[in-house]
Amino acid sequence: MKLAKIAERLSGLGSEKWAVHGEGKRRAAAGENMIFLSIGEPDAAPPEAILEEARKQMRPGRLHYSAGNGELSVREALSRYYTKQTGRPISNKQFLFLPGTQTALFIAFMAILDEGDEVLLLDPYYATYEGVIAAPGGVPVAVPLDPDNGFHPNITALEAAITPRTKALLLNSPSNPTGAVFTRDEIAAIGKLCKKHDLWIVSDEVYASLIYGNNIFTSPFFDKDLEERTIVTSSISKSHAIPGFRCGWIAASEDFCARALSISESMLFGSQAFLEDATAFALDTHFPELDAMRNTYQARAKILIEGLKGSNSVSARMPEGGMFVMVDLRKTGLSGEDFARKLLTEHNVVTMPGESFGACGAGHLRVALTVDEKQVAEAAKRIAALAEKLMHSGH
Ligand SMILES: Cc1ncc(COP(=O)(O)O)c(C=O)c1O
Repeated sequence: MKLAKIAERLSGLGSEKWAVHGEGKRRAAAGENMIFLSIGEPDAAPPEAILEEARKQMRPGRLHYSAGNGELSVREALSRYYTKQTGRPISNKQFLFLPGTQTALFIAFMAILDEGDEVLLLDPYYATYEGVIAAPGGVPVAVPLDPDNGFHPNITALEAAITPRTKALLLNSPSNPTGAVFTRDEIAAIGKLCKKHDLWIVSDEVYASLIYGNNIFTSPFFDKDLEERTIVTSSISKSHAIPGFRCGWIAASEDFCARALSISESMLFGSQAFLEDATAFALDTHFPELDAMRNTYQARAKILIEGLKGSNSVSARMPEGGMFVMVDLRKTGLSGEDFARKLLTEHNVVTMPGESFGACGAGHLRVALTVDEKQVAEAAKRIAALAEKLMHSGH
């Protein structure tokens, strides 16, 4: 039987990107000792109090169908959270509670794209972005980020990529995979550009709480002037180390939320009230263990970078935010793909090739900071050793 075009458009999008990870899993299952730096899955346990709240709320009154846009209580908690973040009143009607950032992205693009509409995305980009753009028939247009500029945006290049079909720009700061956190000036310049060309801004802020050093998180949503065109997608997956809850949301204008609701209702018919309660609790509470988790990621990044410092063939920059470090292999002359394969087969270290995240990830490895310091240090040693060997062997 023939399926619709959407199934063809999305088929195969992505599976090859995870080939190195899949091979690592197979070898681990066969009993080999592997170091996994491939997946952005927090290794820290979520705060016990959030689990306790979910258990407490898993009771008859909270097991009914929830409101399509989320229960008032969680939207009130989101309203408090974003009012504090933005410094202006954000109403409880400015949210759609959804199963994770991924669903939020899917619904955002379903709501704004017609077939053939183009979306600017900054390359390297998160592995599922092509799919969420392609689902409603959109066309991803990759705009290169320069690794030598820390993968920060070039506004002139962005503007040059705009055509009459451009409908939106997809932003992800802090970025997976690059670790870049866009500055206030960069976000302002992007906002100005989107206003000038009347573009939507879809801002994936799933790593907003993971910021390092003197970097400051900024969102186009912070600017009242950009509110009507900005759709924020986020969740507690990374901030609270609880991706399996699938608790996320869209934050946008009241008008957008009211109109996009029919899409999410057609698909989901509401979500789980008891998990919404746990999310509200999570958003309203400060957890010192989450500060510790952030410090742990930061410490691991420093160890990795320190471990590569002596090498004259590979290097890495301290991420400004997020859970990942990009290791620059370009001096070795190998692709990220070839290097990741050799690292896997010869040194039992599982990473993601930079190419999995777009053409501009070429010659890089993405390393997830989700294993303990000892393993990170050991992985750095093996990465440096392999690079050294390859440099001297001329491959
Ligand atoms: C950039 C980015 N966006 C979205 C997601 C999906 O997050 P969620 O668990 O909230 O669906 C991820 C998960 O790794 C991610 O890295």
